[in-house]
Amino acid sequence: MDTTPKTVAIIMDGNGRWAKKQGLPRTAGHKKGADRVRDVALEAQRRGIQKLILYAFSTENWKRPEDEVSYLCKLPGMFFNTFIQELMDNNIRVTFAGELERFPAGTQKTIMKAVNQTANNTGMELCLAINYGSRREILLGMRKYADQVAKGERANDITEEEFSNYLFVPEEVDLLIRTSGEVRISNFLLWQIAYAEMIFTPKSWPEFDEAALDECLADFAGRNRRFGGLADEN
Ligand code: IPE
Ligand code: IPE
Ligand code: MG
Repeated sequence: MDTTPKTVAIIMDGNGRWAKKQGLPRTAGHKKGADRVRDVALEAQRRGIQKLILYAFSTENWKRPEDEVSYLCKLPGMFFNTFIQELMDNNIRVTFAGELERFPAGTQKTIMKAVNQTANNTGMELCLAINYGSRREILLGMRKYADQVAKGERANDITEEEFSNYLFVPEEVDLLIRTSGEVRISNFLLWQIAYAEMIFTPKSWPEFDEAALDECLADFAGRNRRFGGLADEN
């Protein structure tokens, strides 16, 4: 039986606290976190995960001080400028979830370049959730559907499977990981995690390496997913 999760989502938390512990500014934690994105994405690809969704910036993160927000807005651009070749070499396809419009033009351009350049890659999909909020995602999907119904393009008979296609992320999440000890979802993939297995690790994101991902995958492989039914042995 294949016990590898198809879709894995990670709430990459704890960059700021990690930096503070080292006596560094919070931005140093974010920079270190970007290196971990590279390591963890390559390991996920090696392990046969089909889609890795990484929560990089939430719709609520705009509340942070201006200098931190400004750094976080530049980070995806910096990340792709550094690692795009490696992503290409590993056949990884880049996508994003969220609304890019609020980001600086340069960042939007670099992200779209990475998306376009990797569009024909056939390996793992690396999906960056940026300016992403799950409630907003559901609301936007609902508005789009309501518009189609109002225009008479669709009957009011949508199914759960069909509604998934109105979201930024249509897949079910098999495994959700949150680093840094917080046990909450913080507006991430609310629809998609209905039956996800969850792992909350005390490790901060800058400390979360390939071995840490492997440990989570081993934990997942031992879980008994029932989806409301009964276990196989019953
Ligand atoms: C995660 O680390 C990165 C983002 C939310 C953008 P944090 O910046 O939340 O770090 P902590 O939780 O304050 O330590
Ligand atoms: C969640 O982390 C968002 C990301 C990792 C991008 P936060 O640090 O923003 O979440 P809260 O504020 O602790 O819930
Ligand atoms: Mg945090």
